[in-house]
Amino acid sequence: MKILVTGAAGFIGSHTAERLAEMGHEVIGLDNFSAYYDIFLKELNAKELLKKNIEVLKLDLRTDDLAEKLPNDIDYIFHFAAHPGISSTSTFEDYFSNNILATQRLLEFTDNLKKKPFFVNIATSSIYGLEATFPESVPPQPASWYGVTKLAAEQLVLAKCREKKLQGTSLRLFSVYGPRERPDKLYTRLIDCGLNNKLFPLFEGSEKHLRSFTYVQDIVDGIVSVIGKVNVCNGEIFNLGTETESTTAQGIATVEEILQKKIETENKSPRAGDQSRTKANIDKARKLLGYNPQTTLKEGLLAQMEWFKTYFP
Ligand SMILES: NC(=O)c1ccc[n+]([C@@H]2O[C@H](COP(=O)([O-])OP(=O)(O)OC[C@H]3O[C@@H](n4cnc5c(N)ncnc54)[C@H](O)[C@@H]3O)[C@@H](O)[C@H]2O)c1
Repeated sequence: MKILVTGAAGFIGSHTAERLAEMGHEVIGLDNFSAYYDIFLKELNAKELLKKNIEVLKLDLRTDDLAEKLPNDIDYIFHFAAHPGISSTSTFEDYFSNNILATQRLLEFTDNLKKKPFFVNIATSSIYGLEATFPESVPPQPASWYGVTKLAAEQLVLAKCREKKLQGTSLRLFSVYGPRERPDKLYTRLIDCGLNNKLFPLFEGSEKHLRSFTYVQDIVDGIVSVIGKVNVCNGEIFNLGTETESTTAQGIATVEEILQKKIETENKSPRAGDQSRTKANIDKARKLLGYNPQTTLKEGLLAQMEWFKTYFP
């Protein structure tokens, strides 16, 4: 199969691109190497992919002529490119343009293709809102620009499916961690602070937040499981994540246990739109995709620790 992966230089996109290549697919990566976080990390990921013969084309979904730059016989699109997370330094324009406009441009690219690819939209538990514990059928109540714009992107994809102009699915991922995790996220920060004796910025009250912390390879298992299941997945939404809940405090304690040292914290004001609880309800994915994530938090964090020490000694 010929597969386009957008956001391929990023955290989850790069792992998925590698997995798809390992499965024997021809993978074309695309990324605009946005400066949302250190571009060096994205270049590092792209270099790793190149070693596996996956090229990441430097293209911006919002502005580049995709029809001119991309092949017209793609079988699947895995759409990861986005402005992720909730960040006080990001503008509404960042979320609007990279999440909504970029998705719309990608869909317009598929409009003009004779052979239609199956479109796998990568969505997020933030779509549910401050509590994300529900099955896919529950009406979304996003509480952040991120959640709102990702919901809009998801609906743009599903609207095309309803119009029967495209076949596709949307996968809502829950709190992903592991090697290459974004530097703005919990575990990369904790590991960096622990190893380099920095103060960890703890958002007030966040130690009690509950999360379905999901190891990246378990997420990739779910993402690639849609291949060959077009009839089951078309027009559908699936939650992907572990059913095991941990508090942020438990996450911190696990990193401390691995490092065998205490991580000092500094208090920060709570983040607007931060979810109080996420617990992936994966009944649908288990039934229809055979999804069954198994990696424990400690196992996943040991792998992430090894990655961090290798690349940032
Ligand atoms: N990391 C998580 O825990 C998590 C959880 C739920 C959902 N998701 C979703 O997974 C996807 C990947 O997230 P990630 O954590 O790997 O983030 P990431 O920032 O590492 O990856 C996103 C990539 O998209 C690229 N990109 C952004 N705008 C672009 C544009 N206009 N054109 C081309 N490329 C563009 C960025 O340069 C980046 O490399 C996102 O859609 C995100 O919403 C992530």
